Amino acid sequence: NNSINIGLLGLGTVGSGVVHIIDQHQDKLKHQVGCSVTISKILVNDLHKQRDVHLNGSRLTTDPDEILNDPDVHVVLEVMGGIEESRRYILQALENKKHVVTANKDLVAVYGSELLQAASRNKCDLFYEASVAGGIPIIRSLVDGLASDKITKMMGILNGTTNYILTKMTKEGRDYHEVLKEAQDLGYAESDPTADVEGIDAARKTAILGTLGFSMPIELEDVNVAGISNVTTEDLDYSHELGLTMKLIGIAERTGNKVEVSVQPTLFPHEHPLASVNDEFNAVYVYGEAVGETMFFGPGAGKLPTATAVVSDLVEVMKNMRLGVNGNKVSEPQFEKQLKSDDE
Ligand code: NDP
Ligand code: HSE
Repeated sequence: NNSINIGLLGLGTVGSGVVHIIDQHQDKLKHQVGCSVTISKILVNDLHKQRDVHLNGSRLTTDPDEILNDPDVHVVLEVMGGIEESRRYILQALENKKHVVTANKDLVAVYGSELLQAASRNKCDLFYEASVAGGIPIIRSLVDGLASDKITKMMGILNGTTNYILTKMTKEGRDYHEVLKEAQDLGYAESDPTADVEGIDAARKTAILGTLGFSMPIELEDVNVAGISNVTTEDLDYSHELGLTMKLIGIAERTGNKVEVSVQPTLFPHEHPLASVNDEFNAVYVYGEAVGETMFFGPGAGKLPTATAVVSDLVEVMKNMRLGVNGNKVSEPQFEKQLKSDDE
């Protein structure tokens, strides 16, 4: 059959968004890459869980090998989270010459370089746009859009959960725990929200952006981190009266040959562009020697915005497969078949 087959690892918030977008945007995907996209198998923990997602014939499995060792699966999308298992599965997929897309910042922040080396060794793509700032194409913007510039500093609101909490506490005077629960119900928070509220998730994303923006590896241990779990409504009210808005900010800045990286609650005058980034929205403010100052803004978490980034990476993978960019065309020449039938 003339289709690229996908193995999806995970069918939670992001995974169900991926299924939805691939289903709803099939015509556009086909037009862009020249063949249809089929999610053949999906890895989950629990086969019997009630799921609010239309599977269109995709088969659920709890055995990762059914996906990772299947020669008919061409691309693996990892949206299950965690570190050790997802690392192992991605490495296995790459060794089996499958291109990989992941949304997993926990993994990329620590093992990004190992995974990229494995991808390169196996002539495969490994993309991770969804790992930072959900629906904002910030990784591609740094790597491609600002490729010609020298970045001097980046600062960003990189965690949707904490921005949602700070916004609701500031604007509606609501209780921290109540709003955190709401952010969890809306699918913004990690399964364990400690990483969100303690600034660790933002630190991972800042490390990823810093590594890309400054072309030097930034270790998570090198990031000074403070979160928002001790911030009170009184702190926010008082800041507000002084004309200041609190945001959890990740900063990566070049000083000499070093890059200083930190995450901390920071006060901005109400007029500053970052002060008006509310709810689950994220923004990244980039200073470049040539470009000056530029800001990227958009939804930082949630089902469809994050899934958009995952599926856009998939489109990039498929375009590369079609062009043979990595020298690793899929084992069955779907695209060639399609090109031939286009010519006839
Ligand atoms: P969820 O907890 O909603 O979903 C995780 C899914 O993976 C579930 O379907 C679960 O199966 C499955 N799963 C988890 N571990 C295993 C395992 N060991 N074996 C088999 N299946 C497993 O997570 P999200 O969708 O929210 O997040 C997924 C990834 O995307 C994470 O890395 C997260 O950090 C990242 N991300 C999330 C964003 C968001 O807004 N939520 C935004 C950007 C990135 P089952 O359903 O059976 O329990
Ligand atoms: N928990 C993360 C956040 C998800 O709230 O930003 C998006 O990476």
